Amino acid sequence: MRIGVLTSGGDCPGLNAVIRSVVHRAVVDHGDEVIGFHDGWKGLLECDYRKLDLDAVGGILARGGTILGSSRVQPAQLRDGVAQALSHVEDLGVDAVIPIGGEGTLKAARLLSDGGLPIVGVPKTIDNDISVTDVTFGFDTAVGVATEALDRLKTTAESHQRVLIVEVMGRHTGWIALHSGMAAGAHAILVPERPFDITEVAERVGERFSAGKKFAIVVVAEGAKPQPGTMKYEQGSTDAYGHERFSGVARQLALELEDRLGKEARPVILGHVQRGGTPTAYDRVLATRFGWHAVEAAHRGDFGNMTALRGTEIVMVPLAEAVDTLKTVPAERYDECGCVL
Ligand code: F6P
Repeated sequence: MRIGVLTSGGDCPGLNAVIRSVVHRAVVDHGDEVIGFHDGWKGLLECDYRKLDLDAVGGILARGGTILGSSRVQPAQLRDGVAQALSHVEDLGVDAVIPIGGEGTLKAARLLSDGGLPIVGVPKTIDNDISVTDVTFGFDTAVGVATEALDRLKTTAESHQRVLIVEVMGRHTGWIALHSGMAAGAHAILVPERPFDITEVAERVGERFSAGKKFAIVVVAEGAKPQPGTMKYEQGSTDAYGHERFSGVARQLALELEDRLGKEARPVILGHVQRGGTPTAYDRVLATRFGWHAVEAAHRGDFGNMTALRGTEIVMVPLAEAVDTLKTVPAERYDECGCVL
């Protein structure tokens, strides 16, 4: 069998572990041939690829990023490219395509699968917001990076008696904010799922200072929004894909809290540091299992599906289900965050 693998969308620690696992299972155990398309769907559309053998994946398990490169392709470009992708797959004798990606990639995978491409998806995202899998690899690493940053920021906040507002990734969902905030004992956690009341946040931080505490840490997901019309400072811009990003919610909050509390406040935007570097052991294991199961699914002809973690088991779920809704932080999980000011 000939398998084509690609990584698409924002990168994520663990991508290389999947690629390595696919090659190990396919080449060593099944005697398959594996090729890797460069820079995501673009590589498939432009027939830009290289052969992946054991040497090609040597030493990559612990490496962040993706050896294949990644890119984002506009949905319209893909819609127009279905026939082209099909003909490249046929010409190259590829029997299965394994795209590794997040929400956008899995949507594209579904489109191409409906168009006749033999696809086995593998989900990834540091945001952990893909609904049909309990966890995506990359999340554990991102939470670890954010938690370490929060621990460090506490000591400088205390020295200067400041409020530090730490913006973590999470365009649509607050999983990284919730988990890192809980792990580091943040004093307030703001997530996109629950528009925040700035007056309440300011009151709570103010009460902490009144009680004699020297600093406060607020963790905010980049997609968190204030209740409409409650804040003086403007939110940021929208990118070419219509995503609100680098909205500057931390900057906005710092300005508001300084104004309202008369305390120094500093925004810290963690950004892509959460996506870079070596994956945790947990993420390496999950990524490796996903790769192994994707190859098995390809051999069964189990196309149009993707790998998912349910409890401790890896199962296959239809791509159609995977992209229907995002996994948001449920109210009861948010209520457990235990923020004590
Ligand atoms: O989808 C994962 C994510 O990390 C989001 O949380 C973030 O908004 C986005 O990627 C930013 O990605 P990029 O800068 O690569 O477009």
